[in-house]
Amino acid sequence: MKKFERGTRHRIDLMLNGVPRNGHCEPRMLLCDFLRQELGATGVHVGCEHGVCGACTVRIDGVAQRSCLTLAVAAEGRAVETVEGLADAGGALSDLQAAFRRHGALQCGFCTPGILMSAAHFLQSVPMPDEASVREMLSGHLCRCTGYSGIVAAIVDVAQQRASGKANA
Ligand code: FES
Ligand code: FES
Repeated sequence: MKKFERGTRHRIDLMLNGVPRNGHCEPRMLLCDFLRQELGATGVHVGCEHGVCGACTVRIDGVAQRSCLTLAVAAEGRAVETVEGLADAGGALSDLQAAFRRHGALQCGFCTPGILMSAAHFLQSVPMPDEASVREMLSGHLCRCTGYSGIVAAIVDVAQQRASGKANA
């Protein structure tokens, strides 16, 4: 296991959206800042910076986590997924992103990358959620624009489409 010394920049190797990447940071650097500043993943949005708003949510080894509460050094050797990894290589939106567009589930879009990453993880754990459980999941995210109705509708819609075989996870 690597030893990270305070005040020294260290090389961090990780998988970002399925691609091996590396960058350098001091041990105190937050993962959200590392992803944005070192790796150019600016789809990771930074709002509150203390774990409340959910805008910075990414998946680490498949699990949705706040990247503002995670040190970059803790991502060494891990698989990190950001919103940039949801669309396919040709740029086609994922079913979840397409449903957000169809249902008008965003306005300014600041909260959207984090919500998409949480929803992606949530739908893997709960493939057929009811509206109440979607709203409970969303309680970890703040959206100042939408009133949440479109977001809930989009997530429920994707779950139903996947169950009927009309969309892919
Ligand atoms: S910026 Fe991380 S939860 Fe708000
Ligand atoms: S769409 Fe603006 S904060 Fe959610």
